[in-house]
Amino acid sequence: MRSHGCGDLRADHAGQDVQLCGWVDRRRDHGGVIFIDLRDRSGTVQITVDPDLGAEAFAVAEHLRNETVIQVAGTVRPRPAEALNEKLATGAVEVLAASISVLNSVKGNLPFPVSVHDEENTREELRLRHRYLDLRRERMNGNLRLRAQTIQAARRFLEDAGFIEVETPVLTRSTPEGARDYLVPSRVCGGEWFALPQSPQLFKQLLMVGGIERYYQVARCFRDEDLRADRQPEFTQLDIEVSFMGQEEILELNEALIATIWKAVKGVALPRPFPRLTWHEAMERYGTDRPDTRYGMELTNVSDLVAGMGFKVFSGAVAAGGSVKCIAVPGGNEALSNVRIKPGGDVFSEAQKAGAGGLAFIRVREGGEIDTIGAIKDNLSAATKAELLERTGAVPGTLLLFGAGDTATVNKALDRVRQYLARELAMVQPDRENDAWNFLWVVDFPMFEFNAGDNRLEALHHPFCAPNTDDLGSDPGQWAETLPTARAQAYDLVLNGLELGGGSLRIHDSALQRQVLQTIGLPLEEANRQFGFLMEALDMGAPPHGGLAFGVDRIVMLLAGEESIRDTIAFPKTQQARCLMTQAPADVAPQQLEELHVASTWSEEES
Ligand code: AMO
Repeated sequence: MRSHGCGDLRADHAGQDVQLCGWVDRRRDHGGVIFIDLRDRSGTVQITVDPDLGAEAFAVAEHLRNETVIQVAGTVRPRPAEALNEKLATGAVEVLAASISVLNSVKGNLPFPVSVHDEENTREELRLRHRYLDLRRERMNGNLRLRAQTIQAARRFLEDAGFIEVETPVLTRSTPEGARDYLVPSRVCGGEWFALPQSPQLFKQLLMVGGIERYYQVARCFRDEDLRADRQPEFTQLDIEVSFMGQEEILELNEALIATIWKAVKGVALPRPFPRLTWHEAMERYGTDRPDTRYGMELTNVSDLVAGMGFKVFSGAVAAGGSVKCIAVPGGNEALSNVRIKPGGDVFSEAQKAGAGGLAFIRVREGGEIDTIGAIKDNLSAATKAELLERTGAVPGTLLLFGAGDTATVNKALDRVRQYLARELAMVQPDRENDAWNFLWVVDFPMFEFNAGDNRLEALHHPFCAPNTDDLGSDPGQWAETLPTARAQAYDLVLNGLELGGGSLRIHDSALQRQVLQTIGLPLEEANRQFGFLMEALDMGAPPHGGLAFGVDRIVMLLAGEESIRDTIAFPKTQQARCLMTQAPADVAPQQLEELHVASTWSEEES
């Protein structure tokens, strides 16, 4: 139907007869001559319709509306010097139309203009409801291409390194990754349910027992959890597992993979090796296990300094086993008024949202003088003040913001304030071309964290991560005691404050696996019932193995300079986990439920 792509035409095509297909991006009537911007996947070209040179084409062009699908036959000619358009790849030429046929028309009104010039003004709800129109736009079209390019680069790298892609089941049993499962009732096994995989974790481990040694999969995963800009209920992992590799080799391999993707997609040579922080260090210095290292304002622990101080908010927090930490905001004196850091202010409210009661502050003036509330000033000895300034690196103009309380809350609050201020004070430019790529491995995660609500230990990653043997001891008799505080041989890859991927070495000893399951509160019988198949496999010659999974949507989001993974997924779901286009989830016929042996207890009052 066509000889060229619209966006492919250049000056050296001048004189050629061409046939093009595409959408009417825009039509301009210049009193006598009609110009059409014709768009297809390759780009846009100007079609010129002159009644004197194509009367029939002109008659059709007069009635063309935006987004009509047309086929144009015509001749390429150079544009006159005054009409050159340097912003357009095809801006040196135009196609003089000989004939235009309408392949399909637009009936009714378009819900929003597709033309790229209007893109920023469309509500996301409308974009999602008519996603096919949104996908026609350069931005989304480009993001989907970039996504394909990313996956292609990853596949090529992995296959060259001897990996094979193996598909694992989607109808399976629950794989515990910490979220709620999506469940599918079985019609033939009444009363029983499949769970959609939260990740292919157990299957990839079983593939290692199966001698595959190098597995990867572009795998769809399903998690019923609270949604955010970087979370979707179904998302895609680049899932990897290897046998006979230690942690160093796995990190090295994955760095090479990431570097290959960045080179292929962005043309950027990433400096390697990526820096590393232990989990403990990350929490201490940034208050989070996924720090954004593009800017400073690290947390300084001043608990020891203020422990004996007369200011009770500080000394009380330390006495209760908590911490006092602070961040030094460069230029903060000028940039942040007291109103913003006191109750009701925007900075205060960030800390409050993370559970903090308030934000104490000190303003550092010329000559090392300070401004703060009396209760701090009156109780701060000259020596403590000097040490405080020294430790935080504060200079005149610096604002010190303090969090005091239990350590987890202090970390959470200062992490949140740090990120907020970095945005507010433009320490990172959130522009789409931003090319600061601060990769960071966070290693040595703890095996478990305490879930106060359930009063039990929980696996920090998942319960298949291998503990660090240095912390565990070789005598299985000690494991019940040593496991709860052991570090895991687990690692996360963080980029600019976002967790891109995570993985670990796995347990390949069934006795240790049982012990870990018991540590998270699964009685032996229950552990055997749920994971007996895994333990059985581990006892049949399971090789040492480990791996990692990257979030593909998140990688693409960062490569594309987007702020939500919704903009990297062709048909994403809303915050309410709903597809606005198909209106899924939807009700089903009572007969279907009956066949599935399922009765709904839903009532409207619950909504
Ligand atoms: P984890 O749970 O850390 O590890 O997931 C790996 C990566 O998947 C991405 N991710 C998500 N992306 C979008 N929406 C979500 N709801 C979502 N949840 C996770 C993140 C994350 O880093 N089986 C282990 C991996 C392993 O141990 O090999 C796992 O799934 O980028």
